Amino acid sequence: MASADRATPLRLGSIAPNFQAETTNGPIDLHEYIGDKWLVFFSHPEDYTPVCTTELGEFARLEPEFTKRGVKLLGLSANTIGSHEGWIKDIKDVTGSQVSFPIVGDKERKIAYLYDMLDYQDTTNVDEKGIAFTIRSVFVVDPKKVIRTILSYPASTGRNSAEVLRIVDSLQTGDKNKVTTPVNWVPGDDVIVHPSVKGEEATKLFPNLRAVKPYLRFTPLPNA
Ligand code: BEZ
Repeated sequence: MASADRATPLRLGSIAPNFQAETTNGPIDLHEYIGDKWLVFFSHPEDYTPVCTTELGEFARLEPEFTKRGVKLLGLSANTIGSHEGWIKDIKDVTGSQVSFPIVGDKERKIAYLYDMLDYQDTTNVDEKGIAFTIRSVFVVDPKKVIRTILSYPASTGRNSAEVLRIVDSLQTGDKNKVTTPVNWVPGDDVIVHPSVKGEEATKLFPNLRAVKPYLRFTPLPNA
């Protein structure tokens, strides 16, 4: 059950609202579940929907990659735990991947509402088949429970799991090294020295710094 109404919109930098909920792996308290890890929390408007089926299979396949980065996965779908259990079997049939991370049962869309995942601020907002639009969000949350990324997808477009991993890599690299990452960056590419790191500190931290403009300074990372 959600612990608060969604009075103000969630933004990057907000604390991920805590909630207690039933999941396919038993009850969870979100903040306890995160513990000292990162979290990727992603949602679906209904079980047995085609695009979502492929996405859940792919997140299950990639779970070891997320685990390597200290990231826990949590799914949500606006249906019951019983329904999720049947869907998980289908996902295994279709994709070959076993979903072993928890999927929240949010039949009443309370958590979807708390997390501002619905197209409109109304839990009764459904299409002609009763499917709530859109509840297709991805949240990346850090160990301090701060929301670091929010993505919102239409029903028609499957999520890019490699992009979610890339975002995690960028955030973790940035936190560790006082850097940001340029367009289409992938681990191993040069990064950008954060504008707050100036002068001698910059050259000390990044001896191979390459200033293209005073405000755009690239550097390789030692252990990249
Ligand atoms: C899907 O294909 O996953 C989907 C279909 C309708 C609404 C939302 C998702």
